[in-house]
Amino acid sequence: MKMARLPVIFFPFLTLLLISVSTNINVLGELPFSAMFVFGDSLVDSGNNNYLNSLARANFVPYGIDFSEGPTGRFSNGKTVTDILGEIIGLPLLPAFADTLIKSRNISWGVNYASAAAGILDETGQNLGERISFRQQVQDFNTTVRQMKIQMEHNQLSQHLANSLTVVIHGSNDYINNYFLPEQYTSSFNYDPKNYADLLIEVYKRHILSLHDLGLRRFLLAGLGPLGCIPRQLALALSLEESVDLTSMTLSTCSMFC
Ligand SMILES: *[C@@H]1O[C@H](CO)[C@@H](O)[C@H](O)[C@H]1NC(C)=O
Ligand SMILES: *[C@@H]1O[C@H](CO)[C@@H](O)[C@H](O)[C@H]1NC(C)=O
Repeated sequence: MKMARLPVIFFPFLTLLLISVSTNINVLGELPFSAMFVFGDSLVDSGNNNYLNSLARANFVPYGIDFSEGPTGRFSNGKTVTDILGEIIGLPLLPAFADTLIKSRNISWGVNYASAAAGILDETGQNLGERISFRQQVQDFNTTVRQMKIQMEHNQLSQHLANSLTVVIHGSNDYINNYFLPEQYTSSFNYDPKNYADLLIEVYKRHILSLHDLGLRRFLLAGLGPLGCIPRQLALALSLEESVDLTSMTLSTCSMFC
């Protein structure tokens, strides 16, 4: 998604997590997680889209005006929600996966695979150009695991991954850059809202199980926020006179939450 910042969506999840995390730090005096791996969309992209031919890029001002490193590709004036989460659990800023491929970056605290416009479905976000789908993000993590195998022996790596926090913030674009764009995607003709949600959950589950197969064990899975409250969505919904169903669906996701 482009230019949409919705930190408020995820506060309910993070509040719960942070309470238990800060308890862990106090009791044990050590980090609760050995590393953090981030999968998601523009809410948490930290620069992976900088290398893509995409309209969904944010490596220029005014993005980053309040961030220590300036514009980095984060869709925010400052930190993203996973930057703040990492800070609270005692981890440094994570490198974007794309940077680990071409620059020397320390991957021992984790890696960020998130890509703006990406979604659970491979086709999601193609209206904005190139993006790294959740499927490809899982494969990129597989690449990182191969790199870590060079640095760590088998048992140490298994323990490292099992103690890492995996954050997944996906799904918004499967609506706003797919289902809600009937002129560019067929999904709203082929699936009613219930069947589409079932499809997303099925594909999502498969990707989560792949991450589990690769050794990850501790997951923070964020749900969707009130997508209809995004100003662009409100504007689009009001302009789509013919597709009354989608309009009312978008508006109702807003009135449910706002
Ligand atoms: C990465 O950082 C960790 C923790 O600070 C350190 O132990 C490790 O040696 C570093 N690895 C590389 C390849 O620089
Ligand atoms: C990870 O990559 C290897 C090939 O290097 C492949 O055999 C394996 O199936 C991949 N794992 C997942 C979960 O995609």
